[in-house]
Amino acid sequence: MSQAFNFTLPTEIIFGAGALQNLGDILRGDGIKAVLLVTDPGVAQAGLADAVSQGIEGSGIEVRVFQKVEPNPSVETVALGAALFDGFPFQAVVALGGGSPMDTGKAIAIMATNPGDLTDYQGVDKFNNDPLPIYAIPTTAGTGSEVTPFAVITNRSQKFKVPIGSQRILPRKAILDPTLLTGLPASVAAATGLDALTHALEAYISLEASLISDAFAEKAMQLIGGNLRLFVANRKNLHAAEAMLMASTLAGLAFAQARLGVVHAMAHPLGGFFDLPHGTANAVLLPSVMQFNSLACPEKFRRISLLLGGDASASSVAEMLRQLNRDLGIPADLASLGVKDEAISDMAEDAMKSINISVNPRQVTHGDLVALYRQVL
Ligand SMILES: NC(=O)c1ccc[n+]([C@@H]2O[C@H](COP(=O)([O-])OP(=O)(O)OC[C@H]3O[C@@H](n4cnc5c(N)ncnc54)[C@H](O)[C@@H]3O)[C@@H](O)[C@H]2O)c1
Ligand SMILES: [Fe+2]
Repeated sequence: MSQAFNFTLPTEIIFGAGALQNLGDILRGDGIKAVLLVTDPGVAQAGLADAVSQGIEGSGIEVRVFQKVEPNPSVETVALGAALFDGFPFQAVVALGGGSPMDTGKAIAIMATNPGDLTDYQGVDKFNNDPLPIYAIPTTAGTGSEVTPFAVITNRSQKFKVPIGSQRILPRKAILDPTLLTGLPASVAAATGLDALTHALEAYISLEASLISDAFAEKAMQLIGGNLRLFVANRKNLHAAEAMLMASTLAGLAFAQARLGVVHAMAHPLGGFFDLPHGTANAVLLPSVMQFNSLACPEKFRRISLLLGGDASASSVAEMLRQLNRDLGIPADLASLGVKDEAISDMAEDAMKSINISVNPRQVTHGDLVALYRQVL
């Protein structure tokens, strides 16, 4: 573990049941007069987009709604949203939804103030002009995008998930209201909750882990260990929803500091090649990759086992994760999700390009990743 770190969080976190009701006042207090609300059809169907846009309008702020975001959102979708700026020069982006609308909102905020194509800005801090301010409202307890400096947008023609990183896309405010999660389908609650768990686990064993990222990751694991099953069983359990929403934000804070690892490196190509939901891709890979990683840091795995409610044995973690997947209805293999063996070598090649490979506690080669994909095929 490296013990030197800098920690800054420009994002104000506003947490609590009913927190969303103050959004209009919050925007008005920040001097905002016109916003683009970025969301997706599922969130709109759940009635959340109308409630939010009415709340904003009620404070005398102009709103236009862009609700065309798809899961694994594309570069083209970002361009469609950003093009609205020409006729409606909004001053801020309100991103309402899971990681897909939040990442799209971040990317639209960049493209509203910068020329060219989003792919020009792939990598870290590649754009010149400051993006518009972003107000993030998560409706899944999963990605932590509300507190991370990342956006992941898919280039469909290259089957590649384009990573964009900058402290300047950290949302100005993150409004965490657990009542927004009560309408989640059980399958989405399960997959997104396992994404949050993957963030906490990978940040915890990352070579970049520090005392501060460990503090966030440990609390996230403990909350998820105690609440994910309860939340999937009943999304109206407000206590469990609150715990999961806090856990996903804490896990986001952990990996914003410490980065991730091989699970995420391998999950992104599964999204790019086969459009698998991000959380499901992580969940299927998680037990086998953690078994592989446990060789590198057994002490941390003993601690993980305890935090997840097990005994102090490093080898029990993979089995605990397998049982969690079974309980939550996550498939045990990738083939049943449509993944084909012939894509594995290309996916492993893309995975090796991820910035998360170099911080994984166990070194990996292209051949290791091929073997790990095959293990869960
Ligand atoms: N920026 C980051 O730091 C970061 C981290 C992890 C993942 N990601 C990205 O986030 C994306 C995945 O986000 P996600 O897992 O949150 O899923 P998502 O945003 O794609 O949403 C999944 C589904 O759930 C529905 N949904 C969301 N909230 C709902 C609600 N309250 N009620 C009913 N339906 C609801 C949506 O309509 C959608 O159909 C991926 O593209 C992934 O790469 C980003
Ligand atoms: Fe993730």
